[in-house]
Amino acid sequence: MKYIIANWKANKNYEEVKQWIDSFLSYNLEPYSHKVKVIICPPFPFIPYLSEKIKSSPFIKIGSQDLSQFDGGTYTGEVVGKSLFGLISYAIIGHSERRQFIYETEEIIQKKIDQALQNNISPILCVRDANDKVYDLVDFIVAEPPNSISTGDGFGVSLGLEDVLKMKDTLGITTQKLIYGGSVNEKNATTYLRSDAIDGVLPGGASLDPKRFYSIITAVD
Ligand code: PGA
Repeated sequence: MKYIIANWKANKNYEEVKQWIDSFLSYNLEPYSHKVKVIICPPFPFIPYLSEKIKSSPFIKIGSQDLSQFDGGTYTGEVVGKSLFGLISYAIIGHSERRQFIYETEEIIQKKIDQALQNNISPILCVRDANDKVYDLVDFIVAEPPNSISTGDGFGVSLGLEDVLKMKDTLGITTQKLIYGGSVNEKNATTYLRSDAIDGVLPGGASLDPKRFYSIITAVD
């Protein structure tokens, strides 16, 4: 089973989301339904709409790109695990863009992992290098060095297979699933998806176009 995780980041309006999902669901996904788990991580406002749309496709799940470190209560604007409970199965936590631009610390990330687990949400933890902590309780670790992340089109400088496997060792990944992220696109997805040591990929830019995202899924064959 390979995990293919779409990270839409801060992109798309409601009209674009409707077009994306209608177009994506029109592709022949059936041959892949037992080989992949597709996790779509849109901006928060689109989670309920997309959850409804994918309801009859059990191999497609919805995730969030973040969740609050807080339990709930007087934290205006925060999206807490309790609000997401039952709506999503996965949450990306500790993405390098949040560590860099929102100044998320290891302490905050740890609280977010706890919040996710308390609310039946599986954390997809992004780590940049061996300085970022890897947690035993987390099911998914995304190895994603910041300089491999694209500027938005999915065509940056991706890591070669050897380097991803080296990262697996340096990060100390043993029981967790290893996901590779950083300029994964329709041209290089096969490299990662055909390796037994890699459990999946997390494309950002290339997931914004349903056709390109579908091509990545077809790369599992
Ligand atoms: P990218 O983004 O595929 O556009 O490099 C990946 C990510 O940052 O999650």
